[in-house]
Amino acid sequence: MNRPMVPFTSTYLSGQESVYLQDALTRPAGAGGFYSQRCETWLENSTKAGRVLLTHSCTNALELAAILLDLSPGDEVIVPSFTFTSTANAFSLHGATIVFVDIRPDTLNMDERAIEAAITPRTRAIVPVHYAGIPCNMHAIMDIANRHNILVIEDAAQGVGSQYQKKPLGTIGHLGCYSFHASKNITCGEGGALLINDKRFIGRAEILHDKGTTRAQFRAGKIRQYDWVDIGTSAPPSELQAAYLLAQLEQAEEINKQRVALWGLYQKKLSPLVKKGMLQHLLPPKDCSHNAHIFGLIFSTPEMRNLAQERLQAEGIQTALHYQPLHRSPAGQRLGRASGSMIQSETLPDRLLRLPLWPGMPSCTMDRTFDILDHMLNNSLTA
Ligand SMILES: Cc1ncc(COP(=O)(O)O)c(C=O)c1O
Repeated sequence: MNRPMVPFTSTYLSGQESVYLQDALTRPAGAGGFYSQRCETWLENSTKAGRVLLTHSCTNALELAAILLDLSPGDEVIVPSFTFTSTANAFSLHGATIVFVDIRPDTLNMDERAIEAAITPRTRAIVPVHYAGIPCNMHAIMDIANRHNILVIEDAAQGVGSQYQKKPLGTIGHLGCYSFHASKNITCGEGGALLINDKRFIGRAEILHDKGTTRAQFRAGKIRQYDWVDIGTSAPPSELQAAYLLAQLEQAEEINKQRVALWGLYQKKLSPLVKKGMLQHLLPPKDCSHNAHIFGLIFSTPEMRNLAQERLQAEGIQTALHYQPLHRSPAGQRLGRASGSMIQSETLPDRLLRLPLWPGMPSCTMDRTFDILDHMLNNSLTA
């Protein structure tokens, strides 16, 4: 019998997306209208961030954060090597030298113990990435940043709905960045948000967000005409994206609840292999809740990981690899430098495999995954 293919990811649609999109067609489609304001208010209410600005992408939000830093050539920004290009690129684009640090083997997040050695008199910011929606050790990171008087910009692209010690990711650093890309739990195809937690940045962020103008004040009825007052970019998405996004945000709790349930099922099904030491999976720290963005398995060798991907694919289960370390990439070598040992960043990505995870995914996928991996791992030991 031919089994249907299990895709790696699939977007949850509540049905309200098309209702809001139809309604958006009857309104002015430009940025900053009814749906954009509702999304920003929803995010402000649910995260308690001082101000939230919708953007075209998380990349776009990170770039706004970089402009807010007022970087000069030679200034340095610390980022983990195991991340998406945008985490580093946004700051390179605005003149910073990127200083890469290693990751922790349990969460694949920035290793907070590596940060202090990477700090120099030119360090301006630390950019922790909450990989898989699993929180970084924000207590340690904020402590280091405060002691050295540097800023923290959370790359919470994958962390919408996760919490660190009861605080939403993206609201702990001075600034936070979300992604609503199609690959994320909550999506509008391409989208993002800048969370401004340090109130000093709100006024300028609103100006940079809208082409360097005072249009936000004009929209709020505070001035009669808006003016060009600073550099800026065109960050606000259209009302069509915002209408789609609002429907998703209103279902965010349900979407993440379903993902967390499936994540827990994977954990339970695969626990015999984990207990035997044949496999490891990413695990959130005790005082954190996570949004189950990724179920990531770590195999003992790259060969085992590759074999697992081939076997699962042959049985109709799609999986995915993830980032290669940026400090070794051509741009990373040109635009940054590594600080300290990078052993985890250099070895773990080749042993990492992401399993399919999406609301509505049939739970028998976990049984099939377990059977395939159990067979493969036990046979490899006896071979
Ligand atoms: C950690 C991280 N940062 C930034 C981004 C960029 O997000 P966007 O595609 O919304 O620009 C991504 C996208 O996958 C990501 O995973």
